[in-house]
Amino acid sequence: MTTKIKDKAVLQNNTWDIQIENLVAGYTETNIIKSLNAQIPAGKITAILGGSGCGKTTLLRIILGLTPHKSGKILIGGNDIFDMTSKQFRSMRRRIGVLFQDGALLSSLTLEENVALPLKEHTKLSADVIRKTVLDTLDLVGLVDAADYYPAELSGGMKKRAGLARAIITEPPLLFYDEPTSGLDPITSARMDQLLLDMQSYYKNMTTVLITHDLTSVKRVADHALLLKEGKARYNGNIDGFFASDDPYILEFINQQSRDHHKINIAPANAEVRAALDEWLKS
Ligand SMILES: Nc1ncnc2c1ncn2[C@@H]1O[C@H](COP(=O)(O)OP(=O)(O)OP(=O)(O)O)[C@@H](O)[C@H]1O
Ligand SMILES: [Mg+2]
Repeated sequence: MTTKIKDKAVLQNNTWDIQIENLVAGYTETNIIKSLNAQIPAGKITAILGGSGCGKTTLLRIILGLTPHKSGKILIGGNDIFDMTSKQFRSMRRRIGVLFQDGALLSSLTLEENVALPLKEHTKLSADVIRKTVLDTLDLVGLVDAADYYPAELSGGMKKRAGLARAIITEPPLLFYDEPTSGLDPITSARMDQLLLDMQSYYKNMTTVLITHDLTSVKRVADHALLLKEGKARYNGNIDGFFASDDPYILEFINQQSRDHHKINIAPANAEVRAALDEWLKS
């Protein structure tokens, strides 16, 4: 894949940071997020890290208005999102791009139609202008030759790039990626990381938030980190400080993650199951 992103200023004139103040949230009485305080700086790439089930996706869903919170504040570009009218919230939400884990493409539409959706739904642009914009965006993510493919015909890595094309076509000042490299082989992951960096240099003011388990990817792309543990920020600061930290939990997190990368858990079958399988293999 070759990316053809030119280093030029684009149509963005505002930068959006995120301030999280005493945020409490959970699906039952037990809270997943417990008085979380954190900052995500504008115009940078921030990685949200933490063990499986610690609440990373929940935090994203709260920001997108898909999951309710219990108390606290989230300020985006200085505006409290829980204090907005629904009209104000919708207007802000339109300026947030999201790349969901599987690309969230509609299976009955071609790649080109999928990427065109936000422009078709929300603008009065002519079909010709939309087509040109879509093809230009597909070109940015290296998928222009696959414009007529249906999602089922795309590989996992292509789906993620397609999801990225659809997320960026509206040039959002705030972009979230939930696990952009999960399930990708190391070479495709490295290309995806390069694409994130290219996007960041193309859309200069864009605030990017990356939810990931992939520390190799974090090392390559992130400027800033937010590590969640037991509903609070265990670390929130620049990435060099994260990797240089002597906090025992952070050290364990970093080491455990690199070990997990190579670990395969296969539960040994018990004697009865083994015997039954042997029977079957002999038959
Ligand atoms: N819709 C839901 N209803 C009830 N509980 C939920 C719901 N979604 C998530 N949870 C619970 O909330 C906790 C946090 O889930 P979340 O998806 O935010 O974790 P995560 O940090 O994104 O994990 P992963 O790294 O595995 O994606 C988990 O214990 C999960 O079981
Ligand atoms: Mg998650």
